[in-house]
Amino acid sequence: MAPRKLAAGNWKMNGDLAALAEIDLLREAYPDPGCEVLICPPALLVHPMKERVGAHKMTVGGQDCHANASGAHTGDISAVQLKDAGAAYVILGHSERRADHGETDADVAAKAAAAHGAGLIAIICVGETEAQRDADETLAVIGAQLAGSLPDGASAANTVIAYEPVWAIGTGRTPTNEQIAEVHAFMREQLQGRVSDAGDVALLYGGSVKPGNATEIFAIAHVDGALVGGASLKAADFGGIISALE
Ligand code: G3P
Repeated sequence: MAPRKLAAGNWKMNGDLAALAEIDLLREAYPDPGCEVLICPPALLVHPMKERVGAHKMTVGGQDCHANASGAHTGDISAVQLKDAGAAYVILGHSERRADHGETDADVAAKAAAAHGAGLIAIICVGETEAQRDADETLAVIGAQLAGSLPDGASAANTVIAYEPVWAIGTGRTPTNEQIAEVHAFMREQLQGRVSDAGDVALLYGGSVKPGNATEIFAIAHVDGALVGGASLKAADFGGIISALE
């Protein structure tokens, strides 16, 4: 098995029922895409989006889940519920959740274990801040986040890793190709020993990916796809990224 090729969209806290029209446009433009196509909308839209996807092979995912399957956790959503609503994936440990909700690596590992238990593929996010990169701490930060956020039992079948430098998210700035290559090769190496099929785990790059830079980014070794924010909201933009990957 080779790593899955995955174009993943993270709508963050954007979109409404009317925005599901973008799914129709994607289905029409890519009836049989040559890569996996995933959209992770706000939780309220997971089920209606899945219905809109219908028989198309595009998948739908959540943006977070609780570590427990059910219980007294007002406002939270479990991996089991996401699965029930039609999700196949869940993004975990995004830097916005680490920053806004104080999520730790241990929290992310517990959520990922819950996701695996529910039959979801966990997209575990890691990435350094600008201050950490300037202090030459990038690889140490990524190594620690990976070591702490991966649950036991992680495999290429149930886990994807997304490298998202915090300073590249929504800024229009991207690392150099050499910087992306260095981190992705390092992540591949770090997975050895932790994951039996480490060579087959898909490694995504995320942070200001656009149709205009996607081809170049996908040509970098160990980049198996992208986790896309702003450019995933419109089918015309996301389509350009899908075309670059397939
Ligand atoms: O999870 C995707 C994300 O954080 C990147 O966002 O808008 O820079 O593509 P954006």
